[in-house]
Amino acid sequence: MTSSLLSVKDLTVQVATLTGPKVVVERLSFDLLPGRTLCLAGESGSGKSMTALSLMQLLPKPMARIAGGSATLDGEDILALPEARMRRIRGRKIGMIFQEPMTSLNPVMTVGNQLIGAITAHGNTSGRRAARARAAELLD
Ligand SMILES: Nc1ncnc2c1ncn2[C@@H]1O[C@H](COP(=O)(O)OP(=O)(O)OP(=O)(O)O)[C@@H](O)[C@H]1O
Ligand SMILES: [Mg+2]
Repeated sequence: MTSSLLSVKDLTVQVATLTGPKVVVERLSFDLLPGRTLCLAGESGSGKSMTALSLMQLLPKPMARIAGGSATLDGEDILALPEARMRRIRGRKIGMIFQEPMTSLNPVMTVGNQLIGAITAHGNTSGRRAARARAAELLD
């Protein structure tokens, strides 16, 4: 049997509300196999974005928190990784296209600079000139 690339078990996410904690993702489990596509479908407010943000360690703090469960990517527990390690993984092994471009993209930052930032952050090239060339190549 092929082993999972991403394995989520009993993921539970809570948000703080005026009337106390509210569970917005409840014991979600799934396995994503290498080379396969997995879609989460559900009505608005069912917790798809909260699930994705949890896996990226990008839940809005301190309002939302992971209250239980685990998620392993390539055998690494991505819910418990320190931020420094997570920064190496985000945008390289796991990425997210955010739902609201008007709020998730900085309108004064050009597409080129977005790409160059990601390329240099992951140390794939040496120097800004090479990163710029790589960005242009990707756009081509
Ligand atoms: N900032 C917030 N404060 C309080 N509750 C929130 C907040 N953001 C999301 N929620 C709640 O978390 C739950 C899950 O929301 P989520 O955004 O994950 O849904 P979704 O499945 O992505 O919906 P959509 O299809 O509309 O994108 C909802 O009940 C929502 O009200
Ligand atoms: Mg959403």
